[in-house]
Amino acid sequence: MYALSLLAATACLLLPATTAQELITEDSYFYGQSEPVYPTPQTSGSGAWGEAIAKAQAFVAQLSLEEKTSITGGVSNSSRGCGGNIPGIPRLGFPGLCLSDAGAGVRGTDLVNAYTSGISDGASWNKNLTYQRAYQMGGEFRRKGVNIALGPPMVGPLGRIALGGRNWEGFGNDPYHAGVLAGLAVHGIQDQGVVACTKHFIGNEQETARSILLDSNNVTILSSSSNIDDATLHEAYLWPFYDAIHAGSAAVMCSYNRLNNSYACENSKSLNGILKTELGFPGLVMSDWGAQHSGVASALSGMDMVMPSALAFWGGNLTLSVNNGSVPESRLTDMATRIMAAWYLVGQDSSEYPAPGIGMPANVLVPHTLVEARVPEARPVLFQSSLEGHVLVKNTNNALPLSKPKILSIFGYDAKAPDSITPNPTNRDWAFGLLSSSARYFICGFGNRIAQTCPAPPPIAANGTLYTGGGSGASTPPYISAPFNAIQERAAKEDTALYWDFVNINATAYVPTESDAAIVFINALASEGYDRPSLRDDFSDALVTNIAAQHNNTIVVIHNAGIRLVDQWIENPNVTAVIFAHLPGQDSGAALTQLLYGDVNPSGKLPYTVAKNESDYGRILNPITDIGANGEFYRFPQDDFTEGVYIDYRAFDASNIEPRYEFGFGLSYTTFSLSNLKVACVSGSPSEYPTGQVVAGGQADLWDIVATATVSVTNTGSVAGQEVAQLYLSIPVEGQPIRQLRGFEKVMLQPNESTTVEFELNRKDMSVWDVAAQKWKLTLGTEYTFFVGNSSRALALNETLTLLK
Ligand SMILES: *[C@@H]1O[C@H](CO)[C@@H](O)[C@H](O)[C@H]1NC(C)=O
Ligand SMILES: *[C@@H]1O[C@H](CO)[C@@H](O)[C@H](O)[C@H]1NC(C)=O
Ligand SMILES: *[C@@H]1O[C@H](CO)[C@@H](O)[C@H](O)[C@H]1NC(C)=O
Ligand SMILES: *[C@@H]1O[C@H](CO)[C@@H](O)[C@H](O)[C@H]1NC(C)=O
Ligand SMILES: *[C@@H]1O[C@H](CO)[C@@H](O)[C@H](O)[C@H]1NC(C)=O
Ligand SMILES: *[C@@H]1O[C@H](CO)[C@@H](O)[C@H](O)[C@H]1NC(C)=O
Ligand SMILES: *[C@@H]1O[C@H](CO)[C@@H](O)[C@H](O)[C@H]1NC(C)=O
Ligand SMILES: *[C@@H]1O[C@H](CO)[C@@H](O)[C@H](O)[C@H]1NC(C)=O
Ligand SMILES: *[C@@H]1O[C@H](CO)[C@@H](O)[C@H](O)[C@H]1NC(C)=O
Ligand SMILES: *[C@@H]1O[C@H](CO)[C@@H](O)[C@H](O)[C@H]1NC(C)=O
Ligand SMILES: *[C@@H]1O[C@H](CO)[C@@H](O)[C@H](O)[C@H]1NC(C)=O
Ligand SMILES: *[C@@H]1O[C@H](CO)[C@@H](O)[C@H](O)[C@H]1NC(C)=O
Repeated sequence: MYALSLLAATACLLLPATTAQELITEDSYFYGQSEPVYPTPQTSGSGAWGEAIAKAQAFVAQLSLEEKTSITGGVSNSSRGCGGNIPGIPRLGFPGLCLSDAGAGVRGTDLVNAYTSGISDGASWNKNLTYQRAYQMGGEFRRKGVNIALGPPMVGPLGRIALGGRNWEGFGNDPYHAGVLAGLAVHGIQDQGVVACTKHFIGNEQETARSILLDSNNVTILSSSSNIDDATLHEAYLWPFYDAIHAGSAAVMCSYNRLNNSYACENSKSLNGILKTELGFPGLVMSDWGAQHSGVASALSGMDMVMPSALAFWGGNLTLSVNNGSVPESRLTDMATRIMAAWYLVGQDSSEYPAPGIGMPANVLVPHTLVEARVPEARPVLFQSSLEGHVLVKNTNNALPLSKPKILSIFGYDAKAPDSITPNPTNRDWAFGLLSSSARYFICGFGNRIAQTCPAPPPIAANGTLYTGGGSGASTPPYISAPFNAIQERAAKEDTALYWDFVNINATAYVPTESDAAIVFINALASEGYDRPSLRDDFSDALVTNIAAQHNNTIVVIHNAGIRLVDQWIENPNVTAVIFAHLPGQDSGAALTQLLYGDVNPSGKLPYTVAKNESDYGRILNPITDIGANGEFYRFPQDDFTEGVYIDYRAFDASNIEPRYEFGFGLSYTTFSLSNLKVACVSGSPSEYPTGQVVAGGQADLWDIVATATVSVTNTGSVAGQEVAQLYLSIPVEGQPIRQLRGFEKVMLQPNESTTVEFELNRKDMSVWDVAAQKWKLTLGTEYTFFVGNSSRALALNETLTLLK
């Protein structure tokens, strides 16, 4: 009776006020426990990090105790609109720091671009584009006087929970794919001199119960504990952090959840042990906003900066803790050194760096100095990212591309621009009209009380086209090219007649038979602060079904902030084409129109698995299913990651479940063939374990190339297009997934053109985490199998390779 149904997994935990809550008073009762790891290693590094740390040490040596404390703690600054502020030290020329959201562009200010969200970037599978997008976004953060961009990259959540409210902020559900793109995003942001903050560390796979709650009897319920075994942590959730840190990410954000029953921002094993020792992270760990729950403990466990405010635990109390001996001064010095090292690493000591917060007015509703952050060079990049984030999954009867249609009919609440997009000083989601109900649940999810009256959140944004998700990853558009506007423009040029109906949203009275096609726009909403209520919704499904019942060329476009199931209507032959459009940012409609009309060939691929039915995702959909036989989970929600690394396609492969659309799948207007797969070892006989020194990211030789594969890709169709060649590896170790992504390259080919694609696999790519040795281990003397194809289930080629002992 306590089981939460799938549909009840909202921000509002539906837990009864049990009388058994006294039974368990210690969270040491539970499975997940972390060993203590102290002290925090002092930052160190070579190369660019070494130089930055030396400068930071010289700077920090001049600081008083109070000054050192001051740069570890957020302050409010009513004259700025930054999401977080670190005060300056004017006597030494340090101007302080401005921190700002987030992953789809600078949030909540004017004169910035609204980029694609992480899920669209991930769906492009385009490495260069990911770098370019982050580089252009980084330029906007810089011009606005932002010192630390709070993403990209976002690599946690990784998508364990299909309903996760923040999955869309990340690149997708595969650790390798996320890691490669995260590394490039870090380079892009930091090449502009802005500190990239990789988040959330670690195990923040759901929004439900992410924060402390009070029940109706004021009983405190702690944040959910993600209990993750060591191998799963390394092979799945930690994996992308290796790449981000190796790329130089100078900041990492610790998360809201507990990990193994201690708060992620005071878990010494993960911060001191894994992040700062094993991964040799030289930069700073900052708390997510309000994720700090202790003063001395968080300091000793390896947290370096608190956001947004030091008032609760640090500030004067941190100074006191040093004075009374609870926190060694060396720890405080190390915090300050790590923060300043990040600042020096990216060159913010240069006089050219814009003053903190210069383009971030506290309130855009009152007159303020305008700082233009947009540059012409960004436009083609963000447009390309919008294009490549669309994934065409069905195209029958040559429905697409459209060919000079005479008449088109357009339906659905998601086709037009929201009625209002206005600056809002209190809620930084610009698209307040679009996301207002989303924002309501966001606030509800943040409340420290279980609001039993809190109704289920909305599954869709019914007020207009969805171009971003909600919460801190939301973008701030200077304009929105809505699909309907863009199609209107095209119709005007090509003498196409349009019919539309956005009023009779679920059962239009009339779908003109004469129209060449009926295009239906629906969406799937998600936001930080709550998990999604469902993976599909009856309202939108009825809309599609009703249109399809009346027109045999119905094209469906879904702006989906996460996985969206389509089986209510996908096999209806009248549904001739379907596009997962994801969250394309400001150029949504213009990009879509180029794809619909075939000016540009679709080239996105799903960065997640679309199942036929919810139950196919298995038990991983809803982690808190029980409060325990004795009510023991009540005060200490437990979330055991017992499925291990078997999330997304790894789980579907292992259980032999046929997906509707598999990870890596996406159609094109042309066809490609792959041939001539060759695999090779790079060096004669590598050692079983790495032997290199620890650099930022881990042992240096984890990045040594151990094997290569080459494959020839040919465009066998009649139009130009891009294809993503994908390499999946079978590692010959008991308990490993059947196949895991270990390479992808996107290439542009003219008709009949061929090219050779090369994949490079490093030591870590071919290793498994050896729990006993606490090292990555290669398998020597047994065959690995390399599979290459154009999705996780279309693997035309395979070859084997043995690393010699
Ligand atoms: C969490 O607990 C599991 C089970 O005891 C253990 O395997 C793992 O190493 C722990 N992780 C951390 C970060 O402490
Ligand atoms: C607050 O922001 C203003 C404007 O950027 C700046 O001049 C001032 O130094 C900041 N105050 C603190 C305490 O950081
Ligand atoms: C990378 O992208 C940029 C901007 O879109 C483009 O100018 C450049 O040619 C691309 N480079 C490669 C190697 O594709
Ligand atoms: C819970 O705390 C609130 C605020 O402190 C108080 O108003 C309320 O009466 C308390 N409820 C119970 C059941 O103790
Ligand atoms: C220390 O923390 C307590 C509790 O949050 C607070 O009341 C007090 O003002 C703090 N002291 C200093 C010196 O910051
Ligand atoms: C030192 O001061 C801190 C902050 O006020 C306090 O939390 C801690 O308990 C104190 N430690 C000792 C040993 O007094
Ligand atoms: C649509 O916008 C209006 C006005 O901002 C708002 O009251 C309403 O809740 C929104 N509806 C949805 C479903 O978001
Ligand atoms: C259709 O929409 C109307 C309101 O617009 C609603 O009352 C009705 O229940 C909907 N029907 C279906 C089948 O969703
Ligand atoms: C397909 O559309 C035609 C009208 O073109 C309609 O008669 C038929 O019932 C539709 N089929 C389905 C399965 O909706
Ligand atoms: C779709 O309907 C149109 C108009 O009724 C008809 O001409 C056409 O043959 C149908 N196409 C298919 C594939 O059934
Ligand atoms: C689809 O999933 C739902 C929710 O998990 C489940 O109740 C239902 O039985 C499943 N249907 C099928 C046909 O497997
Ligand atoms: C590898 O490819 C061969 C030849 O196409 C095929 O017969 C074989 O089944 C494939 N191996 C695996 C493990 O899929």
